[in-house]
Amino acid sequence: MQEELERLEATALAELAQVETHPQLEEWRVRYLGKKSALTTVLRGLAALSPEERREFGGRANKLKATLQQKHTETEEALSLSSLSRGAAPIDVTLPGRSQPLGRLHPITQVITEICAVFARMGFQVIEGPEVERDYYNFQALNIPQDHAARDMFATLWVDSRDDGNARLLRTHTSPMQVRIMEQHKPPLRFVVPGRTYRYEATDATHDWMFQQVEGLAIDTDITLRDLKETLFEFAKSMFGREMGVRFRCDYFPFVEPGGEVAIECVACHGAGCRICSGTGWLEILGCGMVHPNVLAGCGIDPSVYSGFAFGMGVERITILRHGVDDIRHFYSGDFRFLRQF
Ligand code: DAH
Repeated sequence: MQEELERLEATALAELAQVETHPQLEEWRVRYLGKKSALTTVLRGLAALSPEERREFGGRANKLKATLQQKHTETEEALSLSSLSRGAAPIDVTLPGRSQPLGRLHPITQVITEICAVFARMGFQVIEGPEVERDYYNFQALNIPQDHAARDMFATLWVDSRDDGNARLLRTHTSPMQVRIMEQHKPPLRFVVPGRTYRYEATDATHDWMFQQVEGLAIDTDITLRDLKETLFEFAKSMFGREMGVRFRCDYFPFVEPGGEVAIECVACHGAGCRICSGTGWLEILGCGMVHPNVLAGCGIDPSVYSGFAFGMGVERITILRHGVDDIRHFYSGDFRFLRQF
């Protein structure tokens, strides 16, 4: 057996020295290192030997295998190098490169950026706030005391079970930032606040339990409803096109008086009435109003000197209307087939 191994080594190395191409090298590998090679047969046969013989030949056979593998690797490298320099395996320099997959901003991030840019042009600053809020900021300071019926508008995810103004919750809207801004800054104020909001709600095509809003606030000595309308109409036309019909109507929110809503002409039927707009011809895009005197006073701003307007919009809804998306749940499904379209 000893002899057999030596012979094997000699022929294998002699043949390897003749190898000139990759296919030849592969043939060599199959012959000397493959499953049916003499060496593999020897290694398999070791089990039948006596322990002493096994120790002796096993070591030699394994060493030979390592040697042959090492030589194979060296030859392979040498062949690759020489074929490059000889141009044996020509490189086609006209082949297009492999393109790197390109990342992009999430559609909601894109629309938030766009919304904030429209307001930035009108002199608004962008600020963010905490997603875990206090009852005080989310409700009480916004003129929604403990037992106010308007709390039903906001199915709340609570963080604390305590029952006072200090209880923490996941903010149900970005409006609490109105209060934080007024506490920390002196008028004149013009701010927009993008961010995530949460509601304890079953999901369907138009509702998700997490969504994003952009809040707006403007406070000064002589702000009127006319400023509110002008600002929000300008916003709607910047987002949806100059030709877009825009409507302003009264609505109720506890933290504004009067309160309103802005709607755009239905993007599907252009006002004729269809399933998308429930036959009304209009699609609501935001809530708004003149900041309630109670809210101003609670933040230490004198309502007899200052007035202001506020508004809040759902970013997913705006995006759905802009791009004709049929289900809000697509946005956070993480499905690239959906996300790549933006
Ligand atoms: N916070 C309201 C909501 O989530 C939207 C809203 C309505 C915000 C009127 C406002 C406003 O600032 O004035 O439904």
